Amino acid sequence: MALARPLRIPKGFLLGTASAAHQVEGGLWNDWMRMERDEPGRVKNGDSAAVAIDHFRRYREDLALLAAMGHTAQRFSVEWARVEPEPGHFDLSALRHYVDVVAACRELGMEPVVTLHHFTLPVWLADRGGVLDPEAPRLFARYAAACAEAFGEEVRWWVTLNEPNVLMALGYAEGEWPPHRRSPALALRAAAGMLRMHAAAATALHQVSATHGRPAMVSIAHHERPFRPVPRSIAARCVAWVPDLLFNRWFLWSCARGRVLPPAGSGQVVPGLRGSLDYLGLNYYADERVRFDWRASSRLFVSSDPDPALPRNSLGWSIDPAGLRRALVSLSDEFRLPLLVTENGVADEDDELRSGFLLDHLRAAVEAIADGADVLGYLHWTGFDNFEWLEGYGAKFGLVAVDRATLERRPKPSAEVFADVCRTGVIPTPRHPSGMRVGAAPRAGPPTG
Ligand code: NOJ
Repeated sequence: MALARPLRIPKGFLLGTASAAHQVEGGLWNDWMRMERDEPGRVKNGDSAAVAIDHFRRYREDLALLAAMGHTAQRFSVEWARVEPEPGHFDLSALRHYVDVVAACRELGMEPVVTLHHFTLPVWLADRGGVLDPEAPRLFARYAAACAEAFGEEVRWWVTLNEPNVLMALGYAEGEWPPHRRSPALALRAAAGMLRMHAAAATALHQVSATHGRPAMVSIAHHERPFRPVPRSIAARCVAWVPDLLFNRWFLWSCARGRVLPPAGSGQVVPGLRGSLDYLGLNYYADERVRFDWRASSRLFVSSDPDPALPRNSLGWSIDPAGLRRALVSLSDEFRLPLLVTENGVADEDDELRSGFLLDHLRAAVEAIADGADVLGYLHWTGFDNFEWLEGYGAKFGLVAVDRATLERRPKPSAEVFADVCRTGVIPTPRHPSGMRVGAAPRAGPPTG
């Protein structure tokens, strides 16, 4: 195998990390915290996000640490439940906090990329049906407008919803996440609800930003997880394409057409939906190898396992940098939008895989540019080891370790590897291809966040 040569990253390409409020901030009250209280044991080892990594209080030091590593962008989420603790009541001190976070990013030379919804909901909205509430689009737009007003011209890059397809699958079809529904019909209604929420928020963001003279760049963070049928299995090929289209394409096609497409709708026009995407945020972790499974009715008779030919991370997910390049190129060919890698990362207990993973995936993202994709940047998931949803603190995705007893931050060797790339603008020849080691035993499983 010929060794890859050092590769120069284009000027202006954004490099940094991504995070989400619930996973890092601590001190929150939302539907996930209520699940923790009401259903102890749902999260592995009884872990709690009550303190998380205390980023709400330590954000200045945390951001300074990332900036010192040469990062030029920072994706974070605003917690809706904090900003609007009661319907219609906006907490100005919470908004001021996020204004400070944005200002800190800017002072430190990092472009803020702001997510408005990253899986969690205020309990008052969850109680009215969450994303199924017919009022959710209007309420989400009002909250989006409040954020856009508060940030003024300081924020250009927005993500309305993080991974609506994952929330649809895990919250409404498989029932593992709040609101724990297991109904294909409800999953489709949830998808349509989130589509309308996105359209309403995008409209609000475009309108408010225009008044501040800084045109908003709006997207969702789309989780792409191509379903690849086990080779030669006709049954797998037959059953794979429906979930593949539903999971990987339905939302984006609906945005492109401006309509709620079947099977979640019958083509109803959604005001503001067409043209709501100014770029495409891509969260890419792995492809999924799928086969027919008559027991997996909630997953449309598809179950998945990692490709035995590929290395795996510590959660058992396949590692295949070529998959990122394929995803970028196919999304670019199909939607003709600029792309930003809003997440890509690896669960890696001892930081053995991350350096190679990072260099290989970053290289894949830059190489996709040569294939014609307009890739604007790469945001690694994530800066600091944090609360990985039902996995708790066991899954380590961070460049920086966080001691669970003292919350002390310790950069890992991979953080320095990424910092070198950020500082020099050059992706070096990898010393080891990513994921030489095969990780933990395969976990049959759905996409997790
Ligand atoms: C995507 C999700 O947006 C994020 O919250 C999660 O931690 C990572 N995937 C890793 O699973």
